[in-house]
Amino acid sequence: MVRDEDLTNAEMSGRPNAPEVEVTRQMASLAGKIADLGHILNAQLRLRGRVRTPLTVRLRGRIHLSGCGEVVLGEGVSFNGTVVPVELVTYESGRIEIGDHTFINYGSSIAARASVKIGAHCLLGHYTFVMDNDQHDIIKHMELPQSGPVVIEDHVWIGSKTVILAGVRIGSRAVIGAGSVVTRDVPARCVAAGNPARVLRRLTELDESD
Ligand SMILES: CC(C)(COP(=O)(O)OP(=O)(O)OC[C@H]1O[C@@H](n2cnc3c(N)ncnc32)[C@H](O)[C@@H]1OP(=O)(O)O)[C@@H](O)C(=O)NCCC(=O)NCCS
Repeated sequence: MVRDEDLTNAEMSGRPNAPEVEVTRQMASLAGKIADLGHILNAQLRLRGRVRTPLTVRLRGRIHLSGCGEVVLGEGVSFNGTVVPVELVTYESGRIEIGDHTFINYGSSIAARASVKIGAHCLLGHYTFVMDNDQHDIIKHMELPQSGPVVIEDHVWIGSKTVILAGVRIGSRAVIGAGSVVTRDVPARCVAAGNPARVLRRLTELDESD
């Protein structure tokens, strides 16, 4: 079968309608649409009735929901739970909110006893952990410490294997390097990384594109 990339422009132009190329392109486009529909149906099957799930939410693979709190998903939210499921845990009175068109990659786990709010157009890399409670008091291990709501503002990109701890706010358009442990607020429009995460630089490129 002839693939698009196998043909040079000269070869394409030498074949007036390049019918095989066109058919291949149409089949690829159809296959893409069918797969996409599958992800939309998968989201409805696995989430509907438990979470208000707009028809634009997509789920590849599996998601594990537990707890009796509230999960609110925006339009176009997309989960990849193929290799390892995505986990959303809401304890009583906990709330997880995920903004429009945010993408969450496999193995990620988000747990809210009070509130975890993730903005729109964010990207969460593989195995991102977000929690608004440490779960164990430092002295009395069997007691629950206070929760500290977590806010991740719009257009934040979080690298793989990052841990975001209670009470943290990450400003819009910030980038968090892979493997970071975020213990304090991160300002908007900067790159932060490390354990504990520190600001590496400000994204001055964004100022120019404004
Ligand atoms: C943070 C990142 C985006 C690079 O940003 P950058 O501004 O181009 O940073 P640089 O590569 O110039 O590195 C600047 C400094 O930060 C350090 N640094 C970069 N990434 C780091 C990380 N994740 N953790 C700790 N330090 C890091 C570098 O070692 C360098 O230190 P130095 O100045 O002492 O040499 C990139 O390193 C990263 O972590 N990408 C995430 C990839 C990922 O997880 N993708 C998700 C797939 S779904």
